[in-house]
Amino acid sequence: MRGRVILVAGAAGGLGRALAEELHRRGVRLGLMDLPGPALDDLTAALPGARAAPADITDAGALAAAYDTLGAALGPPDGALNAAGVLKTGPGLEMSPGTLRQTFEVNVTGAFAFSQAVARRMIDAKRQGAILHLSSVSSMVANPGYAAYSPSKAALSQMVRVLGREWAAEGLRVNAIGPSLVRTQMTRDALAAPEQRTAALALIPTGRFCEPEDLVGPAVMLLSDAGRYITGQTLHVDGGRTLV
Ligand SMILES: NC(=O)c1ccc[n+]([C@@H]2O[C@H](COP(=O)([O-])OP(=O)(O)OC[C@H]3O[C@@H](n4cnc5c(N)ncnc54)[C@H](O)[C@@H]3O)[C@@H](O)[C@H]2O)c1
Repeated sequence: MRGRVILVAGAAGGLGRALAEELHRRGVRLGLMDLPGPALDDLTAALPGARAAPADITDAGALAAAYDTLGAALGPPDGALNAAGVLKTGPGLEMSPGTLRQTFEVNVTGAFAFSQAVARRMIDAKRQGAILHLSSVSSMVANPGYAAYSPSKAALSQMVRVLGREWAAEGLRVNAIGPSLVRTQMTRDALAAPEQRTAALALIPTGRFCEPEDLVGPAVMLLSDAGRYITGQTLHVDGGRTLV
């Protein structure tokens, strides 16, 4: 991985940051993208040599400007990690169609725009490598309250299959990791309520929640040559959650 250029979207989030820090330790040259704010500034300051370009992945103009900034600083990418995402939950009878639209806008359309822009730059520069998304066990399991998030992650995992097939001939692999619950900003409220925490834990055969560190080995494998024959897959890193 040393010396490779990897763009990370959602870099300032719980999982994005943990994975970016690990890639940095392995000598990866990082281009960091997230919504503008102190979390992105703080991460950039903590990772010497990393470059940052704030961008909303649902905004095509902002995305293009961010790629130009990062491309000028780092050169063309060798790969990408998309850890941007949103989770909005609520009973299906009360959820507004707008909640679905906003969720799909980030988790699916944004993921597509990010992948497409990276792939174009990699193909133009004749770079071979991997694009990795963060899907979720929710792409498979049907948790109540997840009528927006679950279908967005199912769509993302299926998009990974299509793009993996389309771009294989160009030497690009496209995969996803599907974690079960990890404590981050996104899940803080859900995990704060003891009864919800106990119910969630009861559905994980290995008997503990996922930690960001559990994702490191699978992410490095899928982003590196260790995973060179793997494409179009969602690898669930979930302590067996999808077996239940
Ligand atoms: N935490 C979990 O339990 C869990 C489990 C399975 C999957 N995931 C997925 O992993 C990914 C990371 O989740 P997390 O737990 O780190 O959440 P998080 O909320 O800590 O981080 C998400 C990041 O995405 C960024 N983001 C949101 N909308 C954006 C946009 N429009 N443009 C650019 N950036 C945007 C946020 O600013 C934030 O930094 C998400 O796709 C999430 O669905 C998380």
